[in-house]
Amino acid sequence: MSKKINTKLTKLIKYYSLINHNLIFNNKAINRYAQKNLGSPLNLVKKLEILKNEILEIKNCKLKENATKIVFSDGNPKSKIMIIGEGPGANEDLEGLPFVGRAGQLLDKMLHAINLNRNNVYITNVVNYRPPENRRPTDQEIERYLPFLKKHIEIINPKIVLLLGSTAMNAIINGDDVISKVRGKWYKISINKIKPYFIVSFHPAYLLRQPDQKKLSWVDLKMIRDKIKNLSIKIEKI
Ligand code: URA
Repeated sequence: MSKKINTKLTKLIKYYSLINHNLIFNNKAINRYAQKNLGSPLNLVKKLEILKNEILEIKNCKLKENATKIVFSDGNPKSKIMIIGEGPGANEDLEGLPFVGRAGQLLDKMLHAINLNRNNVYITNVVNYRPPENRRPTDQEIERYLPFLKKHIEIINPKIVLLLGSTAMNAIINGDDVISKVRGKWYKISINKIKPYFIVSFHPAYLLRQPDQKKLSWVDLKMIRDKIKNLSIKIEKI
């Protein structure tokens, strides 16, 4: 190769190394829409709709047979804070929304105390149909709904999950410990492909019966408030 061609080539290589020539000379079209939309609200809504339809298609379920309608969720699906209760009661069954009865009113007050509300958290339950006579869901029922709950958590992809009461605690944090031992601590638990922080606290229905436990509930709420700050979670002020 002549010296002249060699110099030209060196210059060209130098030039290409300065620019991203792959982008210029790649003859494959760039798909600007691929992957980027995965976390978009539209996608989120679609995934939640698919999950809801999967639950609606459940067969041979005593809960479903006795309930008026599905209670899927309430709140903001884009929220990084998720709250999980036990299961719908009579009011929830009528309205199709979680935590709308007396326990729900207390939950709203608890959220308000740490500057949260239903517009900036996402709420669901371990089971999506009201258990007859407001009984606790059985272990088999919890097991049946658990894959849906896990999918639900994965779709929302929260950073913090508040488990209200022993049913939610037992569903996610296995073990037979009582709430008073488990509450007030952070747990990092893998749920399918994600690993949020979980905290257990008293169910608002229990707090209505045992108001002296509100002191400890307030400790847990303050832990959530601090964690939101430490993790720099943006709270929509709606
Ligand atoms: N209790 C729950 O655990 N969930 C509700 O939705 C209402 C009451």
